Amino acid sequence: MEDVLTITVHKTRSSRLPEVDFNYLGFGNYISDHMLVCDYDRGEWETPKVVPFANLSLSPASLALHYGQTVFEGMKAFKMKDGGVNIFRIDKHYERLQRSLDRMCMAVVPKEIFVEGLLQLVQLDKEWIPTKEGSALYLRPFMYASEAKFGVKISEQFRFVIFSGPVSEFYTKPIKVKVERQFTRASHGGTGYAKCGGNYGASYYPTKLAREEGFDQVLWTDGKNHEHIEESGMMNVMFVIDGKLITPPLGDTILDGVTRDSLLTIAADKGIECEERPITVDELVFAFRNRTISEAFGAGTAAGVAPIETIHIDGVNYHLPEYSPENLMFKIKTTLEEIRLGKIADPYGWNFVF
Ligand SMILES: Cc1ncc(COP(=O)(O)O)c(C=O)c1O
Repeated sequence: MEDVLTITVHKTRSSRLPEVDFNYLGFGNYISDHMLVCDYDRGEWETPKVVPFANLSLSPASLALHYGQTVFEGMKAFKMKDGGVNIFRIDKHYERLQRSLDRMCMAVVPKEIFVEGLLQLVQLDKEWIPTKEGSALYLRPFMYASEAKFGVKISEQFRFVIFSGPVSEFYTKPIKVKVERQFTRASHGGTGYAKCGGNYGASYYPTKLAREEGFDQVLWTDGKNHEHIEESGMMNVMFVIDGKLITPPLGDTILDGVTRDSLLTIAADKGIECEERPITVDELVFAFRNRTISEAFGAGTAAGVAPIETIHIDGVNYHLPEYSPENLMFKIKTTLEEIRLGKIADPYGWNFVF
């Protein structure tokens, strides 16, 4: 007999939905009514529970708080044109979560808990899915080491949680980025490809410095010589040089972005020449001087497709030409959005519709 996953559901008695201003969502300001919680203890996953969103109780000795054994994902659910609900690319997010958990020596949450948990949660809070263009229900699965023991050790207990919140697009205007030549986000052999908390905490300081200089984000370079472009904030980066869509190749220092993969697939199917290859800072300078670079943008679940207006390199601000709807990035962005909202067919099987 096939095992059927049971998830216990305890619904909230008073929804906070009336407090939401769907015209001014911003990013991270609202959290939906429910969350999923599932504990792991020495080889066993307990029955997942959907409960009203609330604070968690944890020991101050929880290993995650001291040694950073935490991993997260960022995904989106959309209200489709025909009223259905779509969670985008569940499989790819799950595979990445698995890789992150493995790297951080954390138990891998079973796929059925991940998938069923997301479905039940989004189903229950589907009124929270915004419908305005560019908005979505952001889904935040995460896991932390919950064992209460303060010696440095691999935790044997974990808590897996998913919560969600309605968001609009992260950036509302083209961004300015600073090529980072001093600080490092990731180096070979490290955790750059994992979505673990420490990568983000470590990026705060250089990002804060870049913000004080008037930039929105840093554009990371490789940890060895700071010569190769890697990624930016919570986004992969793409450039259009000589009409070709160019992005740094994946490896152990770059997060395998779901948006990056989706845009490359769509672009290739539109007959656009795509190159996943190393890009040096010098190549960018050369392309600016020769006016062969026509577009630069970030790509990520939270940021969507974020046009870059200025790239700061070694004291010089290089400006991209003004953008218009004819730009390559907007064409592939539009197709991605149309697929997610069910306005056109999904030839890739990316949508999980219910
Ligand atoms: C460091 C980093 N790079 C790239 C991305 C873009 O990945 P995705 O498109 O899967 O959101 C993210 C966001 O998850 C990120 O945190």
